Amino acid sequence: MLFPNVDPIPIPAPVWLMKTLSLLTLTLHFFAVHILIGSLLAVGYFMLRGKKTGDPAALSAAAVLGRRLPIVMTYVINLGVPPLLFAQVLYGRALYTSSVLTGALWISVVFILMACYWLLYRISDLTHQSKSAIWQTLAALALAGVVGQFFSFNMTLMLRPEVWPAMYAHSPSGLQVPPHDPTVMPRWFFTMVGGLVGGGLWVALNSSLKTIDEDTSRLMRRFGAGFAAVGALVQVVFGYVVYQSQPQNVQEGLQGTFYKVSAGLWSVGLLLVVLLAVAHFGRKSSSLFLGWAAPVGAFLSIAGTVIYRDGIRDVTLLAKGFDVWKRTEISNWSVIGIFIALLLVGLGTVGWLLFVMKLAKPVSEQVTL
Ligand code: HEM
Repeated sequence: MLFPNVDPIPIPAPVWLMKTLSLLTLTLHFFAVHILIGSLLAVGYFMLRGKKTGDPAALSAAAVLGRRLPIVMTYVINLGVPPLLFAQVLYGRALYTSSVLTGALWISVVFILMACYWLLYRISDLTHQSKSAIWQTLAALALAGVVGQFFSFNMTLMLRPEVWPAMYAHSPSGLQVPPHDPTVMPRWFFTMVGGLVGGGLWVALNSSLKTIDEDTSRLMRRFGAGFAAVGALVQVVFGYVVYQSQPQNVQEGLQGTFYKVSAGLWSVGLLLVVLLAVAHFGRKSSSLFLGWAAPVGAFLSIAGTVIYRDGIRDVTLLAKGFDVWKRTEISNWSVIGIFIALLLVGLGTVGWLLFVMKLAKPVSEQVTL
């Protein structure tokens, strides 16, 4: 028996519903992660450019993006919690085991995140005062990368029950990293280079702000659109590497129509991103329509990869005797109903807050030298 005994408590909602909500929220989590990583790269670039050339537009761009970093992190975390809960409920026998075996690393994520969050506030503050925050930006990028790496460690170790007994025999303290796995780095890189796409689109979208001047807007639009288009091409390469790093049986298990459609969704979404980014790049002024349309393409492409990634997990675990679709389920529909109602109220409230924000009188975000 590779996996621990089945949980005595049946799951409280159908597998399809949990999976749908998990995939939706994970898509949003990855979107936010991409914006975070890409924003940090962009802030670093604009700051270096501003310091080197004395270009106030570059410093303003760094300040505009720096100011939003702590808010972006809020979304990274809050949109990471729901898929974590769903993954634990659905795959607890695998995920709890890998989390315990690497317990020290896993719990350290909380402290690394706190340090990263603190740095984001420092960057926000320093860029607002046109001061250099290059070390803070590099450190925040490194810490975010480490968090992502630890997630990749755990999400791949949970798929390898065959290495668990030897790991536990070696040390039950949780103070170890998983043994080498050729799939880890490609997965990590794939999510991180998504930062070029998500970050680029975020920069291009913010180029439409009424709070910045024409030069800053042009700089952000051209940088953001170019960054996203190049990022989409780089991601294709890493997508291929992720696929190739999977064992033969997993590659074969992903040949079904469902996974082909999700890979197609990824490609179509990325193509849309490239086309809209190129259109935005060539414009004389920023377009709010293009600024919003391109992230829709990015959302579709991320959703495609999230479904495919879920397929990698299910196909791998199935081959090792864990069939997530066979979980015993006793649905508690009244609780599910309350959950969905609250979710809709929450989404409505966010929409209302955005509407109120739109009505607010804009205050200039240009920095002074
Ligand atoms: C700087 C912050 C973060 C970064 C850079 C980051 C990055 C990543 C990456 C790279 C993965 C993919 C791992 C893989 O499958 O190989 C991932 C997955 C995931 N992340 Fe994050 N993450 C961050 C914060 C968080 C937080 C705070 C949470 C939750 C509290 C979270 C929840 C998740 C979950 C649940 C998954 C996988 C879900 C699944 O497989 O169903 N992340 N993240």
